[in-house]
Amino acid sequence: MTQNLADASRPAAVPAARTTAATTGASRGGWWRDAVIYQVYPRSFADGNGDGMGDLPGIRSRLPYLRDLGVDAVWLSPFYASPQADAGYDVADYRAVDPMFGTLLDADALIRDAHDLGLRIIVDLVPNHSSDQHEWFQRALREGPGSPLRERYHFRPGKGEDGELPPNDWESIFGGPAWTRTTDPDGTPGDWYLHLFAPEQPDFNWDNPAVADEFRSILRFWLDMGVDGFRIDVAHGLVKAPGLPDLGSHDQLKLLGNDVMPFFDQDGVHAIYRSWRQILDEYPGDRIGVAEAWTPTVQRTANYVRPDELHQAFNFQYLGTGWDAAALREVIDVSLDSMRPVQAPTTWVLSNHDVTRHATRFANPPGLGTQIRTPGDRVLGLRRARAATLLMLALPGSAYVYQGEELGLPDVTDLPDEVRQDPSFFRQAGQDGFRDGCRVPIPWSGTEAPYGFGPNAGGPSWLPQPAEWAGLSVEVQTGDPTSTLELYRSALAVRRAQPALGAGTGVEWLPAPEGVLAFRRESPEGSFVCTVNTTGETVRIPAPGRMLLSSAEAVAAADEVELPADSTAWWAV
Ligand code: NOJ
Repeated sequence: MTQNLADASRPAAVPAARTTAATTGASRGGWWRDAVIYQVYPRSFADGNGDGMGDLPGIRSRLPYLRDLGVDAVWLSPFYASPQADAGYDVADYRAVDPMFGTLLDADALIRDAHDLGLRIIVDLVPNHSSDQHEWFQRALREGPGSPLRERYHFRPGKGEDGELPPNDWESIFGGPAWTRTTDPDGTPGDWYLHLFAPEQPDFNWDNPAVADEFRSILRFWLDMGVDGFRIDVAHGLVKAPGLPDLGSHDQLKLLGNDVMPFFDQDGVHAIYRSWRQILDEYPGDRIGVAEAWTPTVQRTANYVRPDELHQAFNFQYLGTGWDAAALREVIDVSLDSMRPVQAPTTWVLSNHDVTRHATRFANPPGLGTQIRTPGDRVLGLRRARAATLLMLALPGSAYVYQGEELGLPDVTDLPDEVRQDPSFFRQAGQDGFRDGCRVPIPWSGTEAPYGFGPNAGGPSWLPQPAEWAGLSVEVQTGDPTSTLELYRSALAVRRAQPALGAGTGVEWLPAPEGVLAFRRESPEGSFVCTVNTTGETVRIPAPGRMLLSSAEAVAAADEVELPADSTAWWAV
């Protein structure tokens, strides 16, 4: 199944086109430290061949848009050969492109074009589990008990008189038991296998050296293709506690994020990342690893980015913080304080393909979590989302932008059940069941669906787009100074021109009225102040300097300024 590419092995291209502030990060110890990284969800970004599914040629055709938006790098969610039981996070062949997305030649062309435009490319790596259609797993099933291939996954006999009960009490993140029973080649009920996610995603056994060898080889395959790094899926899950002990409780999803679980955030994972770091460092051009690690605290997240491990880890504590000045200030401080000792940049992220878009989260009352099914107050949500983005882009470190947030897209909360594809939606009591709402293909142009997502007006899209999205397209927003797209473009341009925004490891908090955050950033190039009014009222403060940008129209009067409700402003001082 593996595709071959004649010219696959070649030295890395380091983006040459960008020489502006944001990519001169090397002098401060690495481009990733202050990079703005744009997440492309391949299914939903751009459909080159009109089949309703986004693809690599589609993405390639839109790279100039990303260059003009002003981001530094693009992270691509999985496009590998996959039966798509979990939208590509179930990989059947790690060295092949799924035909629905294109070919390895398309991937090669995309990487080359991106580099020519000064954009780096980060690909997703899924090492916790494969697809159940992966050749190893299929052979393990076929060969039956005793097959060495079974050692590469977690096969166990069941409990109970006839092995009819799962080997332990672990629950799947997507709902139900984390074990599925197999049928032996002779047709009788056999052993069980572990899957922390869907049954189609069997977990690898990372104690088996063949698994580690295979992933080192996969890393090299994509590094030889020229990618600039990897986003590592479920980076906290690879190592399980010895003996796979029971947790002793049900409703385990509620414990996630609060406790160290026997299947998450085990100390043993770090040896894996130390070995990967050596491989990344062998390649020229600062290749990076980014951990998707849901840990109980930012301090534990910091373990993944110690100097000899990965480069970045997503800051999910920040993503999970509501629109509240005190809570935001605290998470910012804790995040910066936790990363300082390991000398890694903090990351900031508001949305991704697994959570309700922040325009919709902030439109709803706080405390509903990250899977929200109600649209809430859309005007309020967008106002806060724009303000939250300017706050995020003013913090030291690296920021992640999820496709479509630059258009102010809300989640689609009313998708009919029959079009939903999130595997968790179909399993009982799992988390993440409503992720389709943030995965709807984005609108580019025109008045008829799929709004330029595909080449033909009236053509298909794998999830239906709401009619209102005609008014949110890239085409409609381009050139409109009040649009969210132009706000992102301006913000990213200012961030490039003002290195103080992304650089450094701390912020200096300034006195501010209740509900308002104000902080200063210093750099040799000049000082910068960010003010954030999280209240629903206009707040008057002394003008901190010359306004560079605001998420809503701020009114300056003499030495004072009126900060509109739910708004952020940037100031040169
Ligand atoms: C995290 C990914 O972001 C999510 O989409 C996926 O379902 C799980 N990992 C399992 O791979």
